[in-house]
Amino acid sequence: MMEKQWWKREIAYQIYPKSFKDSNHDGIGDIRGIIEKLDYLEDLGVTLLWLCPIYKSPMDDNGYDISDYYDINPEFGTMKDLDELIEKAKAKGIKIIMDLVINHSSDEHAWFKEALKDSNSPYHNYYIFKPSVNGKEPNNWRSVFGGSVWQKVEGRDEYYFHSFSKKQPDLNWENPKLRQELYKMINWWLEKGIAGFRVDAINFIKKDQRYLDGPVDGQDGLSACFAYARNQPGIEVFFDELKRETFAEYDCMTVAEAVGVKYSDLGIFIGKQGCFSMMFDFNYCNFDISEDEEWFRRQNWTIKQFKELLFTSQREVQKLGWIASFLENHDQPRAINKFILDKKDHSYYSQTMLAGMFFNLRGTPFIYQGEEIGMENFERTSIDEFDDIGSHGQYQRALAEGFSKDEAMHFLNLRSRDNTRTPMQWDNSEYGGFSDQQPWIKMTGSQDTINVASQIHDPHSIYHFYKQMISIRKQEDTLIYGDFKELETNDEVIGYKRLYQGEEIICLCNFTNKIQDIPDIKGHILLDNYNNYQDKTLKPYQFVMIKSL
Ligand code: GLC
Ligand code: CA
Repeated sequence: MMEKQWWKREIAYQIYPKSFKDSNHDGIGDIRGIIEKLDYLEDLGVTLLWLCPIYKSPMDDNGYDISDYYDINPEFGTMKDLDELIEKAKAKGIKIIMDLVINHSSDEHAWFKEALKDSNSPYHNYYIFKPSVNGKEPNNWRSVFGGSVWQKVEGRDEYYFHSFSKKQPDLNWENPKLRQELYKMINWWLEKGIAGFRVDAINFIKKDQRYLDGPVDGQDGLSACFAYARNQPGIEVFFDELKRETFAEYDCMTVAEAVGVKYSDLGIFIGKQGCFSMMFDFNYCNFDISEDEEWFRRQNWTIKQFKELLFTSQREVQKLGWIASFLENHDQPRAINKFILDKKDHSYYSQTMLAGMFFNLRGTPFIYQGEEIGMENFERTSIDEFDDIGSHGQYQRALAEGFSKDEAMHFLNLRSRDNTRTPMQWDNSEYGGFSDQQPWIKMTGSQDTINVASQIHDPHSIYHFYKQMISIRKQEDTLIYGDFKELETNDEVIGYKRLYQGEEIICLCNFTNKIQDIPDIKGHILLDNYNNYQDKTLKPYQFVMIKSL
């Protein structure tokens, strides 16, 4: 029996607050900017917003480095602004989930400052400190953003551990006092009336306690930390406690961000006893790069292979739980650029085909800001144009591995996290209607042709296609609760069914610029990006959704 939890019906929209809408002319998006755009979001039809971190932060990793979990970063506004946003959104039937970053804090968090000041302070044990080994770092693990995971503490023979940047020291989950502090904070936010959390990098909270060297896998003499600091056995004990002490007490929705999870481990995340309502599955998302997520290790792929990854994900998740389906987020490039390499083929059709493909899968769909108008990657020429800390690390790694500057730049343009962090393009003015001041990050440059204002009144726009998909989903329970079943098709067509209470909805997506044969399917056309579907064939990049009779 399919359980009908409320979060299965939601249509989620991810906001990157820094780049959504600037309300006070400083070139930085803010909470009042989101409030200004609530009518837009309501009109689009989304029912839930995920806000990337807006907590107090020195912004080394754009808010994923929190210095006070109970306060708002002044550049985004105040707690009063947030309360107003929650209330006004609620009045429109829109819920809000916040980003929960509990694998690490900022090095400017009061706890960490105390830990640095005094190694006898109880806060010292809130973080992971180790003495040097032979006068050097305790081991050879490489952090996610490049360089050692260890940072020397000045004036003491010890290092602290950071999976991400050195301004993001990892919290010591082995310490029960630290865990209790985090639970208190989580419950404080849930009491406030938010609908739940997107839970950041949660599969990093358990480390291999032996802290042994790994095999060197790069010219920097280091070893990727993933094998020892991510998805470690025993993490389920932390998950169980986290759930029991917080989420289980509320009717909330939680989405785990967890890269590199094996399907055999899904249960601890989203199984019946699992910790979270749903998770993002990156196994079908990082197909264009190597498993260790080094952007210069590009990977060839085919539609057929992608299809197999996507279908495996749907099948495995269906066995035990629920998923959040998505193509884009603030860490990924724009989907159109990832999937369709030939720019000549970027069009209303290819954009809406991709949209139809992911949005109607089994799971709660997440739209990333700008995806609904078909925003694309940028093309940058110099490393100085990048803000993303990850891009700088990847650039250095590519150079160290012998790539030229041009090659390294090419990898960044394909993969940089800045690609989706550019300001939202509301209109065709100089700063895209995002702000009247120079934005904190350079625009894509395509606001002339790709913007909300030009699409909102055009029934043949990507925006309207999204709007239509959203409204269809709200009417068709099969698209929400229905089982997933793959459909046998040509290699370059993705086809699947959703099945519920004797009803069938079929989605077919042509991933090529050629006509493709498809099975003979009779029924009522719910959606067709060409509006002239003819039996047994798909036109280039056609998407059709058919309710069978
Ligand atoms: C997650 C976030 C990413 C951030 C990292 C460290 O992967 O999505 O933006 O850099 O965690 O918090
Ligand atoms: Ca602002």
